[in-house]
Amino acid sequence: MGHLPQPVVAHGDPYRAHSSRKLLPVLLLSLPILALLFHCAYHGYDYGHSANLGQGLEPAAPVASADSYAAATFLYVASYGGTVTTFKLTQKSAAASLRLAPVASTDGCAGSPSWLTLDDANSVLYCTDEGLTTGNEGSLSSFSVIEDGSLVRLDKVRTVFGPVSAAVYGKHGKGLALAHYGGSALSTWDVEDPTAITPVQTRLFKMAQPGPNPSRQEAPHPHAAVVDPTGQFILVPDLGADLIRIYSVLDGDLKLTERDPLFVARGSGPRHLAFADQEEKTFMYLVTELGNTVVGYEVTYDDEAIAFEEVWTSGIHGKGNDVPAGGAASEIRISPDSNFLILSSRNESTLEIPNFDPDNSTAIASDPLVNFAIDPQTGHLDLVQEVPCGGLFPRQFSINKAGTLVAVALQGDGRVVVMERDAETGELGELVAHADIEGEVTAVIFNE
Ligand SMILES: *[C@@H]1O[C@H](CO)[C@@H](O)[C@H](O)[C@H]1NC(C)=O
Ligand SMILES: *[C@@H]1O[C@H](CO)[C@@H](O)[C@H](O)[C@H]1NC(C)=O
Repeated sequence: MGHLPQPVVAHGDPYRAHSSRKLLPVLLLSLPILALLFHCAYHGYDYGHSANLGQGLEPAAPVASADSYAAATFLYVASYGGTVTTFKLTQKSAAASLRLAPVASTDGCAGSPSWLTLDDANSVLYCTDEGLTTGNEGSLSSFSVIEDGSLVRLDKVRTVFGPVSAAVYGKHGKGLALAHYGGSALSTWDVEDPTAITPVQTRLFKMAQPGPNPSRQEAPHPHAAVVDPTGQFILVPDLGADLIRIYSVLDGDLKLTERDPLFVARGSGPRHLAFADQEEKTFMYLVTELGNTVVGYEVTYDDEAIAFEEVWTSGIHGKGNDVPAGGAASEIRISPDSNFLILSSRNESTLEIPNFDPDNSTAIASDPLVNFAIDPQTGHLDLVQEVPCGGLFPRQFSINKAGTLVAVALQGDGRVVVMERDAETGELGELVAHADIEGEVTAVIFNE
């Protein structure tokens, strides 16, 4: 066992992986008794924090609020520990707590699962492996989503190093675009037959010289691939190059055509973006990791072109509010009604939540989710609230379709939490379920 490869941390990025915590999962994965271990792990889990669950004491309550939680809602959770775990979100009655019950786990996306994309229409889940355990290449896996929540792998292909985000594009979801942080690339794949993923194009990016933050901007670092609301464009925020790369998607062709990029503030490090496709206007919001800003654009279309007018910029805690030292913005999401914007920041540790263990009085340190209302006329952001996200390093989070739940992937704590959200007012509420997962949790998505 002495010659197991040491986990490799991508160039100068303190957020990619905490190497000391990665060795154990790597060791575990190399053991042939893996199945047994998973079996034991399940029995060791203890989920949900309602003491009276299962005692039949819940009062009969109107089903209205229970309706907001779909009958069979699954969460898929990716971990650098090498696994994708399926949890079933259950609620015995409208008055009972939600529970996250583990129902399946797969190591089919190992070594270092970094991102999950669900192609709902085709019941296929894509998982990118960032390649941190090899240090020189990543991989892309496709899984068939089974009704009981389990995943059956269909294919796995090697990719350029460092994929951290994927987006389905093209008519009937035939294409998949991957942003490669560590490999400075954008790759596209034909997934019409998810059992036989085939490469379409790979673009490798270069920079003549480092950006203003040389330790993080020594090379281009595409951090996300996002399809616009029309499905005609793919946007790729590049943390290293301080720009958003733009590609157009032509009908019936998975090859992308490069457009002029959208330049952003130098040194800001664009990371993720999201669209608010409202009745009258379309806005796009970008969160920058190095500058800790949120930048809003009004998006307009003309013929075959997409155009952006900057309408907003502020720190991630809103206008006039400082960002705590060390803060590093991560995810940004727009509510299903397009009226609210939620973003997460890591390494702030300024908030806390009560311990999940009722017998433990020590509070748990937490980073924030920051919640804004979007002005439909101007695209300006109004701070609604800032809430504890349930632990440390919320790398990514997802909102369910009804807008009633937010699931947060906590990389620093190896935990996923589910938070209530009022779909009308947009307000974030209580943490209603949580689960611990081996390794650093990188992504969580709903399947409803
Ligand atoms: C977290 O923030 C502290 C400052 O509060 C900083 O020294 C440290 O490098 C940061 N950690 C990471 C992983 O960025
Ligand atoms: C209580 O919770 C804290 C914070 O999570 C933890 O560090 C500590 O180990 C816990 N104590 C016990 C006795 O479980």
